[in-house]
Amino acid sequence: MSDPIGSTQQFYTRWAWLYDLVAVHTPGIGAVRRTAAARLDPQPGETVVEMGCGSGANLPFLRERVGPKGRVIGVDMSPGVLAVASSRVERHGWENVHVVRADATEPPLEEGVDCVFASLVVGMFEDPVTVVDMWAGLVGSGGRVGLLDLARSSQRVARPLNGLFRQFVTHANPRSVRGSSDPLGRLDRRVAAAHRRLGQRCQNAQYETHALGFVRLSGGTVD
Ligand SMILES: C[S@@+](CC[C@H](N)C(=O)[O-])C[C@H]1O[C@@H](n2cnc3c(N)ncnc32)[C@H](O)[C@@H]1O
Repeated sequence: MSDPIGSTQQFYTRWAWLYDLVAVHTPGIGAVRRTAAARLDPQPGETVVEMGCGSGANLPFLRERVGPKGRVIGVDMSPGVLAVASSRVERHGWENVHVVRADATEPPLEEGVDCVFASLVVGMFEDPVTVVDMWAGLVGSGGRVGLLDLARSSQRVARPLNGLFRQFVTHANPRSVRGSSDPLGRLDRRVAAAHRRLGQRCQNAQYETHALGFVRLSGGTVD
């Protein structure tokens, strides 16, 4: 369901450590990740699954929310970033955090999941609406789903920066993001469709933008 799977895995394996540096140390990114975890609002003792967890940059913020009695499960299909996530978990001695290699569009999980979170991932899916539906089905009524994504900004003040964003999308991403005649348009459409679907599937869904409109956050409780 996500397009060229092989190229995505190769990209995030080859560039795993560099990706982790950017994912953790880009100025302001920690605050955005913490806010996204707050909007997802996992409760102490709950189980959160992060789909496409990459090198594990969100894991500390999700773990902070569920506390020592909760669980965080990171799912990703790329061995390189998973190895970085795994060493992060080991280094910190987080016994309630686990990472597994699997396809986030067909996760090997059936029940007991309270929240699903995905950051910077839905833009890689050919059919993000179906994937969001599947995640909503996984948590069931009363469970929560949260998304964090980047897309072009429509704010006037940010327009000059959309050129830089284009460079980032076309040069620092695998084919599943950049490989089309209109990579930015495709990314915008996929991100918008996923967040819209989350809004349709959830009561009390909250949608907000940050960083001059480049960062999109959604979270809500499934109807
Ligand atoms: C841009 S990175 C985001 C990583 C992390 N969520 C973050 O916020 O830093 C996208 C990640 O999604 C993973 N991914 C893409 N499609 C996937 C799929 N179908 N199943 C599992 N992981 C996937 C990639 O391997 C990569 O690690």
